[in-house]
Amino acid sequence: MRYFIFFLFILIGSSAHAQHPDYIVSGPMLGHTELRSCKVWVEYKEAVKGVQVHFFEEANPSQRKTGKPLTGVNPYFNIVHYELNDLKPGTAYRYELVAADKRVIFAGGFRTQELWQWRKPAPDFSFLAGSCSYFNEAPYDRPGRPYGGDSTIFLTMAKEQASFMLWLGDNWYTREVDYYSAWGLHKRAATDRKLPILQPFWHAMPHYAIWDDHDYGWNDGDKSYPLKEASRAAFNSYWANPSSGMNGQGIYSKFSWNDVDVFLLDDRWYRSNDSMKDSVNGQPNPEKEMFGAEQLQWLKNALLQSNANGGISFRIIATGSQMLNPNSPYDCFRRFPKEYDELMQFLKDNRINGVVFMTGDRHHSEIIKVDRTGTYPLYDITSSPLTSGTHSFGGPEKDNPYRVVGVDKLQNYSRISFSGKGAERTMKIEYLGVKGEPLANWSVSLQQLSTPRTRN
Ligand SMILES: [Fe+2]
Repeated sequence: MRYFIFFLFILIGSSAHAQHPDYIVSGPMLGHTELRSCKVWVEYKEAVKGVQVHFFEEANPSQRKTGKPLTGVNPYFNIVHYELNDLKPGTAYRYELVAADKRVIFAGGFRTQELWQWRKPAPDFSFLAGSCSYFNEAPYDRPGRPYGGDSTIFLTMAKEQASFMLWLGDNWYTREVDYYSAWGLHKRAATDRKLPILQPFWHAMPHYAIWDDHDYGWNDGDKSYPLKEASRAAFNSYWANPSSGMNGQGIYSKFSWNDVDVFLLDDRWYRSNDSMKDSVNGQPNPEKEMFGAEQLQWLKNALLQSNANGGISFRIIATGSQMLNPNSPYDCFRRFPKEYDELMQFLKDNRINGVVFMTGDRHHSEIIKVDRTGTYPLYDITSSPLTSGTHSFGGPEKDNPYRVVGVDKLQNYSRISFSGKGAERTMKIEYLGVKGEPLANWSVSLQQLSTPRTRN
């Protein structure tokens, strides 16, 4: 009988997944989720007030708790961020949004991270990643062939049994009608967020994000963008990351999922213009920076902290622009040699192990490998585009010798999976198409990303 009630409950729970259209505009979207707390994001219709979130263990529906709402997070739209606290690790939960009139306007579920540290090997898991999602809006798009592709890719992704989604920038594309006003920046985020085809994905797993130029402002935007404060406010109200920059500057952050640390970098807030000269009098131009001194200091300390913490295996440094590609004709981190040299030296000197870069922006997917003398090679895993246009190759990238894997002229997302124990723990990258069809894959073990032991 208990099992019958349990299954009945699951059935009711899953059938009540759709949002009530009289109340909800977008979401709910799951945000940062760790061992004992979870963030839930929702946008309501303008007049809707006082919606509560109730949550309970899937196996114990009679014990309900109420989440903490954070309202007034957006100056234009009715967005609420909820914190669901006092959770148990490694536990499946259900939650309900309950309107002021007691009507249940959404029911969904999530799972907290496990407490495995000091107890057992890190659990195997996978997550999704991608960048460059353009949704067509004919009156404001450039004339001609629509730039946005097949959005059903998000229905495919919503069906994945992944732990979370990592949005690698250009998550929405601001246009001329958007990036000249604060309201416009918010409006673009709101317009894309509420698309029906995206809703199942928001419910399905936690979402983490960084930005790149198109969701920060105009094409190739830099630190001079006059509306960057408004853009940061839009980003922070539309995503539910663990934190956002330091001292009101930037959107960088970090989170851990099991034994993987993910560093979310901001490649726009402090960025010099791409056309600033890379070097002056044969030396790296000290004025040309992508991450800025404050953020780079933060990253170095966060990496040292991560390296010192036992139990972390892989360290993913996520940022919009490519990091390593020597043949990129565009805005790769290598074109910012002062910071590039500084970070590369730091990684080597401090023997930071398990580092891989994850990037977006390029409208193709590829893995770039760069060898280093005396230590393990670095890889840049680029994942792009989810829905925006693709391109044909030319110039130095045409047969790029640094490319280990490539997916060209196809919409795609990536699934990153971690399995195995100790030095044999492996990170597998799979690039998948609109219907989830496999396009390419590649694996690397922790051993292959470890500084060789030196003999004294
Ligand atoms: Fe970009």
